[in-house]
Amino acid sequence: MMRIVFVDDDPQVLEGLRRMLFGRRDVWQMRFFTDPQAALAGLEQEAAELVISDLQMPGMDGVAFLEQVRQRSCETIRYVLTGVLDHPLLGHAMRCAHQVIAKPCRPNILCEVIERAAAIKARLSEIKKTTLFSDLNDLPVMPDTHRKVLDVLASPNASPRRLGQLVAEDMGMSARIVRLANTPWFGRSGHFHDPVQAVLFLGVKTVEAVVLTEGIFSHLSPELVQTFGIGGLQAHCLRVGLLARTICLDLEFSAEQTEASSTAGILHDAGKIVLLLKAQEMFGQAIQQSRIEGLPLYEVERQLLGISHAELVGAMLQLWAMPAEIIEATACHHRPSEAASRLGSSSSATLADIICLADVIDHCLCSSGVDGVTPAFDYQRLGQLGLDEVVAEWTRRHIDIYNKDIFHECQYA
Ligand SMILES: [Fe+2]
Ligand SMILES: [Fe+2]
Repeated sequence: MMRIVFVDDDPQVLEGLRRMLFGRRDVWQMRFFTDPQAALAGLEQEAAELVISDLQMPGMDGVAFLEQVRQRSCETIRYVLTGVLDHPLLGHAMRCAHQVIAKPCRPNILCEVIERAAAIKARLSEIKKTTLFSDLNDLPVMPDTHRKVLDVLASPNASPRRLGQLVAEDMGMSARIVRLANTPWFGRSGHFHDPVQAVLFLGVKTVEAVVLTEGIFSHLSPELVQTFGIGGLQAHCLRVGLLARTICLDLEFSAEQTEASSTAGILHDAGKIVLLLKAQEMFGQAIQQSRIEGLPLYEVERQLLGISHAELVGAMLQLWAMPAEIIEATACHHRPSEAASRLGSSSSATLADIICLADVIDHCLCSSGVDGVTPAFDYQRLGQLGLDEVVAEWTRRHIDIYNKDIFHECQYA
């Protein structure tokens, strides 16, 4: 049974939650605390799979409380439930909380959030049975920058212009977004100088994925990048996102699917960063073995760690409550036949197929600097999907654009 601990210094809020979730008392074991210290003592006696805490509390605030929970049991999923989305504490909270839920929250939304947490827990325990990767329950939390973008998107006056203004406040981020809008992949080189215009042009989802991936890569030090030779990885991720988007446009998939493909492509290899941060020695060994034996890196990762970077990024995005199709596409980008959700009634391709294809094409023309072997096209599957004859054309176009671009020469990060 899923064990949940709620903490809020206002007894009326807790009473409201208790009433709201009364119907679920047979499936979830729920404990309610007005005092964070008492909650910690309660967790000491009996652990919980999920902790949902208020932010502003006297004595010990939500950040200090969740940090204590993290230190004592990194396996616990930690959410913040708050009515103040612009409080300075929220930025700190994002370093120890996996998600923020806005208060007041409708019962069905809260139940959905808890059910999703239960699914994440089940999935992580499933993966944990086979992996040697001990930090699976302590994956990086969502970066602050991404949190701010999500807050803007969730606010009633959300707009690409508002998002552009947020990006414009960060000089480094503005420069990268403007540079991205000017790449030959979009056919408008040299057209953009203003970050707001660049965001309006690129679209909210692409910018969101770029901000998110920036946040993940920001955990890396220049020494780590150099030692592991992964200087080209971020640019590779970005190109895969752009190519996946082009393929979806060509195949006339819906605007939502096209946007999802660029998000999934941009994030597809972020699991390598998690491995680098959390299992450095073993990941280094996996890279070596992949190079010496000429085996795909994800296969060696599975052999050595029981989990691949693809499965890892899926688990992380699940924890961050990203849309299901993006989780599946990233988790299955090396084994697309395992993905279930088709892109349309007229096509049996999945989003994972598109990401896998874009990944292989990009690996063919320029190595991401990590894998020991260039992945091969699965022509049998491409043939079944009716995509085999257009691969050469997409590869040619991708190489053309790559050659026109200065993007690959200067590291994107
Ligand atoms: Fe990969
Ligand atoms: Fe890749």
